Amino acid sequence: MLNIAVFASGRGSNFEALHRAIEEQNIPAQIAVVISNNSAAGALSLARSLGIPALHLSQRHYPDPAAFHHAVLQTLVRYATDLIVLAGYMKKMDAEIVRAFPQRIINIHPALLPKFGGEGMYGMHVHTAVIAAGEKESGASVHYVDEEYDRGAVIAQQRVPVLPDDTPETLAARVLAAEHQLLPSVVKNIAQNHRP
Ligand code: GRF
Repeated sequence: MLNIAVFASGRGSNFEALHRAIEEQNIPAQIAVVISNNSAAGALSLARSLGIPALHLSQRHYPDPAAFHHAVLQTLVRYATDLIVLAGYMKKMDAEIVRAFPQRIINIHPALLPKFGGEGMYGMHVHTAVIAAGEKESGASVHYVDEEYDRGAVIAQQRVPVLPDDTPETLAARVLAAEHQLLPSVVKNIAQNHRP
């Protein structure tokens, strides 16, 4: 059984899609804990309603970054985390955590990396940039997380068309539907190949 820690800062629809897929497709995995830097994150309330431990861990509650990262690491160890899934987590993963989980942190990004990634490329900024660039295609990418934003190796992508009358919002909705398929399929693969 693959133990997953999900990090999410917002709404939590990718967390929800992953949770549902694990149940419906009998993926040999469980979401052991959901962690958010935002106490108002939809992901936290959703986790609580599903009976999944939901923790608000914020840098603001610790005297310095090192103490915060230590608390995050302790939590990951406490929940015997095998895989960290970043699903809309708006903070950079600390280098110490990245080193402690080599090739065991994945992120979902709403574009076809390496295009439209990097610092500042999040949320609607991504879809606005894709449309402004006249792209005919966009999509979702799942990649390993290293110490740079959106730079780790891409594991899988799912493409969607960009339509002539798309707004950032309509494109975002089409990409999000792709994300909800792609993330569970990558996690399924990792879980099926996981040897404790
Ligand atoms: C998704 O578009 C994801 O690609 C990005 O942040 C968004 C999170 O959405 N990293 P949700 O919180 O999973 O609904």
